[in-house]
Amino acid sequence: MITKKSPSIFAACLLMTTMAMAQQSAPNLAIIPAPTEIQTLSGQFPIDAATKIAYDNESDKRIAEFFQAYVQETLNMAIPFQSGAEGKSVIHFSSSNTDGIPNREGYTLTVSADRISLQGKEAGLFYAMQTLVQLLPEKAGEQLAIPAVSIKDEPRYMYRGLHLDVGRHMFPVSFIKKYIDFIAAYKLNNFHWHLTEDQGWRIEIKKYPKLTEIGAYRDQTLIGNYKKDGDYDGTRYGGFYTQDEVKEIVAYAAERYVNVIPEIELPGHALGALAAYPHLGCGDNPGPYKVAQTWGVFDDVFCAGKEETFAFLEGVLDEVVALFPSEYIHIGGDECPKTKWETCPHCQKRVKDEGLKDEHELQSYFIQRMEKYLNSKGRRIIGWDEILEGGLAPNATVMSWRGEDGGIAAAKQGHDVIMTANSYGLYFDHKQGPDPNREPLNIGGYSTLQKVYAADPTPKALSAEEQKHILGVQANVWTEYMETDKKVEFMVLPRLYALSEIAWTDPSRKNWTDFSEARVPQHLAKLDQTETVYRVPEVLGLKDTVIYASEYTFRALKPSVAGGKIYYTIDNYNPTDTDLEYQDAVKIVVPEGKERVFKAVVIAPSGRQSNYVRAVIVNSKTPEVASK
Ligand code: ACM
Ligand code: ZN
Repeated sequence: MITKKSPSIFAACLLMTTMAMAQQSAPNLAIIPAPTEIQTLSGQFPIDAATKIAYDNESDKRIAEFFQAYVQETLNMAIPFQSGAEGKSVIHFSSSNTDGIPNREGYTLTVSADRISLQGKEAGLFYAMQTLVQLLPEKAGEQLAIPAVSIKDEPRYMYRGLHLDVGRHMFPVSFIKKYIDFIAAYKLNNFHWHLTEDQGWRIEIKKYPKLTEIGAYRDQTLIGNYKKDGDYDGTRYGGFYTQDEVKEIVAYAAERYVNVIPEIELPGHALGALAAYPHLGCGDNPGPYKVAQTWGVFDDVFCAGKEETFAFLEGVLDEVVALFPSEYIHIGGDECPKTKWETCPHCQKRVKDEGLKDEHELQSYFIQRMEKYLNSKGRRIIGWDEILEGGLAPNATVMSWRGEDGGIAAAKQGHDVIMTANSYGLYFDHKQGPDPNREPLNIGGYSTLQKVYAADPTPKALSAEEQKHILGVQANVWTEYMETDKKVEFMVLPRLYALSEIAWTDPSRKNWTDFSEARVPQHLAKLDQTETVYRVPEVLGLKDTVIYASEYTFRALKPSVAGGKIYYTIDNYNPTDTDLEYQDAVKIVVPEGKERVFKAVVIAPSGRQSNYVRAVIVNSKTPEVASK
């Protein structure tokens, strides 16, 4: 934030900041999420021709192979395995003697000059490996080395999730695997796969082939921002994941300690299913229904009165349960209008027969019946926070998305909760910067990296006992406005880094400055060397602002990607790499009665560019003349 300061005070502040930085330099090295305990030591472990990888058993070897493959792919170095764990220049992956690490996701990592020791049980050892990967240099150089360090680490929450909606737009299996790689690299452990929607049913169900023959395709799709009478692309869109593909993805995730939670939406968001099997809608002669071509909430939902609805959903869930080993199955429950139920004779008969008060209680009846069925199969349900309305199903876990209130209410009733509040910035479909004109098409909302980072998923309104019901946190990626996997990457990165830290790291260890200025730029520098798309954060140390002064010196600006450069203009044109390069400071002199517009961008080594930040310096005593 730029504020007007006299030069002497400004210089003194800068000096103090620099001294503090020197003492505190890189307290978490480049590790995201920040570990529980970290002690940097002197010296380093060189990676060279003498380096070997050791392991205790086959399971440890499997984890070591991830590290070996990473070094081969990114640094073009082959590190061989050795038999036995003795000797120098050894990187030792070990799940033995881990009784002192009670958390199965916890680990220790010790790097000294002649040995690296990783210890943990299964998931813990895998996370030790991910931390070690993050300590590797950005690229192959003359000398590869890892700084000496001692780390003890374990997660704050047992549930750490990322969601993906494949109903509005779908993505190839190869991308789903890449998405799971990102989830695992940032120590998240749940992939919430939103598989059924109004705009498309995306999972093969052998008992009901029309779900994918008919329900997986829409005739066309809305283009641009949502409007009631918007324009359409005139192009058929769709597809689905076969059961073989689902099995492949579930196995791929499991190898990386990621659980896949399928979501089968009910009773709302059901047009994909209703288009295929219209008799499941309300009334005596329901339909025809069309797979939705636009976004929003639709009145046509599963009929809660007909037994056929429950038989159908149980048939679907039988196959889902066989495909997904996850203890949790997500049954949706959000955004279910009750209008059709109010006039449907079958629904009204159900209300009467079951002695229900209203249609909210009918929704509860629906959810409770599905819960009972899934509980009988040894599974538990998760539902969006609307499942609170009309009474919670006895064993349900609530995913609190419309803010934190649903989560607070559920925890107070003794139910488990996963926080995914849009008010916490956990809706990664929301735009990432303040100015809609500088962001690509999105659904609206506002969720910056800093907002996500600031979130604490455990509400203070809960007592210590109630807080135990907060199982963890998740971000949601709704894809109405994400047609391509590149757009998904842009919306997820770098916000995933902030999610990772609020999910894993104790709040006492969080540090926004270290995160945003030291660690994120290093992670982005690695990403910048790959094909993966990400949003380049704006110049560090500068915000859109108006300053009243006859001259102003911009100092201490930093690129948000390590190795990136800052370019600027003072003529209100948007800066590019043909403009002036910011070095240490820029002094702008403004004649009386005039203004200057300072615009600055970050350009990463790949050429990827940030949005500009705009500071207007006005030399006038009358604020009215200032540009906006
Ligand atoms: C939701 O965003 N409708 C759960
Ligand atoms: Zn009905």
